[in-house]
Amino acid sequence: MPTLHFVDGAGQLIAVVEAQPGDLLLDVARLADVPLHWRCGQGTCGTCKVAIRHAGPERAVSLSRKERNVLLRAGLIDAAQAAQEIWADVSAGWRLACHVPVAEQDWQVVCPQD
Ligand code: FES
Repeated sequence: MPTLHFVDGAGQLIAVVEAQPGDLLLDVARLADVPLHWRCGQGTCGTCKVAIRHAGPERAVSLSRKERNVLLRAGLIDAAQAAQEIWADVSAGWRLACHVPVAEQDWQVVCPQD
């Protein structure tokens, strides 16, 4: 069962939560009362941005066109990155917590407060 360490933008620990692989990251944060900003819950507003870090090897991830378009519209990635369906790793750029399923590995999840 992966362990998620939620931290704020300054790196201060907010919460440590165990999750099941496949759980939606936003749902895990909400159930744990992590102060992660979100609005729509449907992947359209761009407010639930997080940065994910982890130890161990990189694993390619596939991002939906919808997530990439919202990240691009929010100015969180550039057009070149938005054009890539496959990213080198979950940590390769900002992600939207309402689009990200928890993986098998432990993560540090950075939740900016802006
Ligand atoms: S809550 Fe709106 S994009 Fe995730």
